[in-house]
Amino acid sequence: MTQKTVRMIYDGKEIELPVLEGTLGPKAVDISTLQKEFGLFTYDPGFKNTSSCKSDITYIDGTESILRYYGYPIEQLASQSTYLETCYLLLNGELPNEAQCQDFHDEITHHTMLNEQLIKFYTGFRRDAHPMSIVVGVFGALSSFYSSGEIDYHNAEEREKATMRMIAKMPTIAALAYKYSKGQPFMHPINSLDYTSNFLQMCFAVPAEPYHHDPILSKALDMIFILQADHEQNASTSTVRLASSSQANPYACVAAGVVSLWGPAHGGANEAALNMLKEIGSVENIPKFIARAKDKSDPFRLMGFGHRVYKTYDPRAKIMQDTCNIVLDHLNMDDPLFDIARELEHVALNDEYFIERNLYPNVDFYSGITLRALGFPSSMFTVLFALSRTVGWVSQWKEMITDKEQSIGRPRQLYTGPDKRDYVPMKQR
Ligand code: SDX
Repeated sequence: MTQKTVRMIYDGKEIELPVLEGTLGPKAVDISTLQKEFGLFTYDPGFKNTSSCKSDITYIDGTESILRYYGYPIEQLASQSTYLETCYLLLNGELPNEAQCQDFHDEITHHTMLNEQLIKFYTGFRRDAHPMSIVVGVFGALSSFYSSGEIDYHNAEEREKATMRMIAKMPTIAALAYKYSKGQPFMHPINSLDYTSNFLQMCFAVPAEPYHHDPILSKALDMIFILQADHEQNASTSTVRLASSSQANPYACVAAGVVSLWGPAHGGANEAALNMLKEIGSVENIPKFIARAKDKSDPFRLMGFGHRVYKTYDPRAKIMQDTCNIVLDHLNMDDPLFDIARELEHVALNDEYFIERNLYPNVDFYSGITLRALGFPSSMFTVLFALSRTVGWVSQWKEMITDKEQSIGRPRQLYTGPDKRDYVPMKQR
């Protein structure tokens, strides 16, 4: 089949740029020769139209509301898989057989403990430090225990070990951040529990009494982890890729991903969405807040609404809403915030402003209500998002570091500053 091209004519010169075709989704114009041929850069603030890499891992379609990990629809993984099995898929590109799944589970389980020296990092934080700031600091400190100076991460075996350690230790680091913020004693991992039950145990068990493990709640959280595991080249994943492109330490690069995810425009929206629902306070107040969200002079936005890619329903939001129902029913809870959320969604989806701009609930809109019902404070919501997204960051790091086309990321700019001018001595200014 003949290579498709885009013809460009500029300054009396004509060139043909190759059009690259993936398995699915929009094709991409290869502009790598543009500067050499025309001395031109492209300009694309926020990279809304730019493919930064080739990737096999996740496919999303914002108009058809599609999210697939290596081709498997998120709806099927959420209802039939487990988070750890999904981790195996994201890291290896195939679902594991029984033996592979067991080996993977055992490998992860035996890396969940933290070095006692690492645990000392917690005591440096104020007790009221945001748990995300603790996770950033402690996870980043892992780079001092597995430093790139001693370990060659271009070696596949070393990459494998780092992969296991990061996925295994993030729940322990996250749980201890929660315990530290509550002033409660740290709980150690219990290897007989599954990954998500172990995490819940480390968060909610106390040494003074036996811990009651609830499989329904554990399954609900496990499903939330599956939904948030990876999402193509979002801001935090792109941060991990860019940081890793300089061959920096992978633990520090994943910590950079945690930082980017923390922003309220990204993963921090789950905490912001719940705080917004609390601020709205009642169904009667919804019209006032809808008006604020539409008022350009008001910085208020509907948190948990809108998405850079999904211009229809975020497929994860629907599953998240169903999970919320399951958890509230199981706990026999009637959360007024859930009623406000559902009414807010209904009003917004029937309002011209939101319809015109294709603003729908995203993954962060309902997750907070479920996490609150599970017993987490809103300050832990983005930590849970970071926990689930660790496998996405690590999978994309592995893909990038072995991609022959990838080199250090170094975007250019459109310079708009002053032209050359001479220094003026202080006395003449
Ligand atoms: C995540 O990228 C990913 O994949 C991220 C993520 C993942 O899994 O990694 O899916 C996770 O980050 C989900 C998004 C969570 N963020 C929020 O819920 C915060 C609230 N949403 C917005 O800030 C916003 O929708 C973004 C940041 C998510 C997307 O912004 P875009 O694509 O840059 O769109 P935009 O800001 O240009 O908005 C387009 C229009 C604007 O109005 P006009 O200038 O055209 O008049 O829509 C308006 C915006 O003002 N708008 C909103 C709105 N979001 C956009 N108006 C009110 N409330 C909102 N939430």
